[in-house]
Amino acid sequence: MSPFPTHRPRRLRRSPALRRLVRETRLSSDQLVAPLFVRHGRGVREEISSLPGVFRLSPDEALAACQELSAVRVPAVILFGIPERKDETGSEGWDDSAAVQTTVRLLKKEIPGLLVVTDVCLDEYTSHGHCGVIRDGEVDNDATLPLLARCALSHARAGADVVAPSDMMDGRVGAIREALDEDGFADIAILAYAAKSASAFYGPFREAADSAPKFGDRRGYQMDPANRREAMREIALDLEEGADAVMVKPALAYLDVIREARESFDAPIAAYNVSGEYAMVKAAAANGWIDEKRIVLEILTGIVRAGADFVLTYHALDAARWIGEGGLPA
Ligand code: PBG
Repeated sequence: MSPFPTHRPRRLRRSPALRRLVRETRLSSDQLVAPLFVRHGRGVREEISSLPGVFRLSPDEALAACQELSAVRVPAVILFGIPERKDETGSEGWDDSAAVQTTVRLLKKEIPGLLVVTDVCLDEYTSHGHCGVIRDGEVDNDATLPLLARCALSHARAGADVVAPSDMMDGRVGAIREALDEDGFADIAILAYAAKSASAFYGPFREAADSAPKFGDRRGYQMDPANRREAMREIALDLEEGADAVMVKPALAYLDVIREARESFDAPIAAYNVSGEYAMVKAAAANGWIDEKRIVLEILTGIVRAGADFVLTYHALDAARWIGEGGLPA
């Protein structure tokens, strides 16, 4: 028996009210995390040319941005630091008076209800732009672990709620967990960039942070974009080492990885809608080629539908405003 004409899926699509009722995925501002780039100074708000609408902010300006985000119910931010000076080991990364640490202290004092996540990595801080220390021309995994732990501890001392290692060194989640526990920070959570691919989609971020590697590339530590089984293995290892939540990054070319992660693990799954994904949308919108609002809400809905519990996105402020106005049209 042919299902048609008995079954007509269009019956449930006839009006906005019906469509609202049967919508399966609902986007909420509760699911958004806004990335912020912070640097030293006062009153500094430098727009990043490849990321229109995204700025390098001094701590006071970061506070103002966070007040706006909080007003539209974005629960969390993730901070990336732009150092005053770079060196071989990335030592400003664990300097208690660096931009990230200063901003964390200010935010936790002024907006205690805002969740502050910090990115833990060395690439913004190293003169060579790699995510670890170099020995014999290579990124030395085990020598990098204590430095990442020092960064995480410094962030925790400043008051960070969650630390998010993005370096892709083996064993860094365990090393950070141990260091935090030993220093009395057992309650600080770890959001691991667990399945992070060596992606061309990070291009604009590297301009923002001036963190492109000065030699070679990151393929010796970030994952091959082609590998899904390996992504599951990376997630499993980070959870075993003590990660509280795990991330898939980038998001759009990796929706299958998000979906499989969701089905394979109970832990919260984050997705990072990265800088190149944002830049493409902004460029097309600036040319009048797409409807930015609908595209952004459709992209974020798609990432959540794939299985992400929350999304790190440069669209957070706009998306939260649009969600407040009713979100993706039904
Ligand atoms: C490394 C880091 C990167 C991003 C987040 N953390 C860059 C990289 O791995 O090269 C990229 C984020 C984005 O593109 O939006 N600290």
